[in-house]
Amino acid sequence: MNGAALYLGTVALLGVVICLAALIWQASLVQQLQRELKGLKTELQSRDATQQHRQHTEGARQQTKDGKHNGFCHQHEDNNWTTRILRGRRQAALPKHRGSRKPPILHLIPAAYSTNEMLDLTEVIWKKSAGQGQCFEHHGKSVVMKENGFYFIYSQVLFHDITFTMGQLMMRTIPSKENKTQILFKCVQSMSAWEAYSHNSCYSAGVYELQKEDVIQLLIPRFNATVDMSSHATFMGIMKL
Ligand SMILES: *[C@@H]1O[C@H](CO)[C@@H](O)[C@H](O)[C@H]1NC(C)=O
Ligand SMILES: *[C@@H]1O[C@H](CO)[C@@H](O)[C@H](O)[C@H]1NC(C)=O
Ligand SMILES: *[C@@H]1O[C@H](CO)[C@@H](O)[C@H](O)[C@H]1NC(C)=O
Repeated sequence: MNGAALYLGTVALLGVVICLAALIWQASLVQQLQRELKGLKTELQSRDATQQHRQHTEGARQQTKDGKHNGFCHQHEDNNWTTRILRGRRQAALPKHRGSRKPPILHLIPAAYSTNEMLDLTEVIWKKSAGQGQCFEHHGKSVVMKENGFYFIYSQVLFHDITFTMGQLMMRTIPSKENKTQILFKCVQSMSAWEAYSHNSCYSAGVYELQKEDVIQLLIPRFNATVDMSSHATFMGIMKL
């Protein structure tokens, strides 16, 4: 009886010891894995840095080359190590990105405004808030196209004005046709005569085929229009498609 109990006790103890040994072995394995992962990470980072440096210089060369010829509107996508590794995991699901292009974009927010009583006109003077590519030349109130093509153009203006209607026009000036002008889009809102209720946003957008050197400009056909000058209330932008 006593002998059997002692035997069972020894077996149980042995079990516990084996379990502990397995746990310790596992922990050391995890530690080793963590060390390897860390090494891999630093190796990857240093590779990333050299790759990025190379790509940066290559990119700059490519850009000046592109600038001399045409098609300098679009920028080629960066192909850094992080994006490549991430992409590797999703490659089956994604189309090939090699040589894919970033769309040229320009988003403008108000910097100031000017108003003209004779022309019954208010114009916003814009500053760049976001952009990429070299497709547009921005001069205060207007944007000049650097290439022919299709463009998506949008604008929003928030009015706090008691004039019965308020709104904006997106105008196109065509220098190749003796500065002929064309209204691309028009946005109109009825306003309340009560100042407390006279808040209205006007948003409008569209796709247009424009030519190199064409100028676009937002006009508010009212003298001294009361416009909200904050960047989240009044803005305009253009994107080459
Ligand atoms: C590389 O790609 C990653 C992920 O897209 C991005 O966060 C990082 O800014 C990129 N580095 C450079 C230098 O473009
Ligand atoms: C068109 O407008 C621009 C800028 O205002 C001006 O310099 C140019 O002389 C004008 N061209 C014609 C044909 O009127
Ligand atoms: C423009 O309107 C504001 C009030 O909205 C007024 O205080 C200001 O005098 C006006 N400016 C001109 C030049 O009429």
